[in-house]
Amino acid sequence: MRKPFIVANWKMHKNVEQSVAFLHKVLDRLPNGDHVDIGIAPQSFATYPMIEITQHTNLQIISQNAATKYDGAYTGEISVKDLKDMGINYVMLGHSERRRFFHESNQIVNQKVLAAANIGVTPIVCTNEDEESIVINNKRYYILRQLHNVLQGLSIEQLQKVILSFEPTSSIGEGHEMNLQLAERGCQLLRQQIRLFYGNDVANRIRILYGGSVNPENIAQVMDQPDVDGVLIGRASLDPEKFVQMANYQ
Ligand code: G3P
Repeated sequence: MRKPFIVANWKMHKNVEQSVAFLHKVLDRLPNGDHVDIGIAPQSFATYPMIEITQHTNLQIISQNAATKYDGAYTGEISVKDLKDMGINYVMLGHSERRRFFHESNQIVNQKVLAAANIGVTPIVCTNEDEESIVINNKRYYILRQLHNVLQGLSIEQLQKVILSFEPTSSIGEGHEMNLQLAERGCQLLRQQIRLFYGNDVANRIRILYGGSVNPENIAQVMDQPDVDGVLIGRASLDPEKFVQMANYQ
C-alpha cells in the first residue's frame, strides 16, 4: 500500500510572515503521520523559519526547486545540499511552470534529479503532457516522453524513493478544471511506463501524485483513483481552512 501524500505548492505566494501565520492556523488540525504524509512547498526564503516551527510534526517543508550543482559561482541558485543540511527531505523538480517560464530542459531536470537523489533528498519529479498522447472524450492529451529523459542515471534503489507527479497544463491554474479521467489515465500511463522500464517492484512502490485544480470538493474522488497516490495543490492550498479540509480528506 503506497502512503498518500498531500502537497501544497504555494508557488510565488506568501511572504515569511504570512507563511508562518498560516502554520499557526493549521498545525494543530492536521492528521498525524500514520496514514498520510502532508507537505508545503513555500517560497525558498520561507523554508527555514517554517522548518524551525514544523520540526516535530507530520508536516514536511518542501523546496520548489534546486540547482544541478551543490555549490559554486552560480548566482541566484539554491543548493540541494544546503537544503538537506537545513532539514529539507523533498524537492520539487521540473514543474511545468519552470519549463515554460525558465526554459528548463529534460537534461537540466535530470541533472537536478540526480543531484537531489545522490545526497538523499527525495525528488518530486513533475511531468505533464508530452509527445505520447492519449485521447479522452475525443480530445488528445500528451504525456510521457519527459519521464524517461528525467529519470536517466537513477539506480533502482533511488527510483523506488522518487515521487512522480502528473500535472496536465490543461488543468493547472485559474480558469481550468480537474479532469478526473485525465488525472487517472495520466498517472496510470506513468505507472505503466515505470513497470515497463524498471519492473514491477518499482512500479508498485513509486508514489505518483496528480496536480491540476485539486480542491476540497474534488480531492476525495481524485485520491480514490487506483493510480493516484497523492496530490499537488496550487491555488486551493493557499487558504488555511481549505488546506486543513484537504489534508483531512480521508
Ligand atoms: O503543482 C501543482 C499546481 O501546479 C496546480 O495548481 O492552482 O491548478 O491547483 P492549481
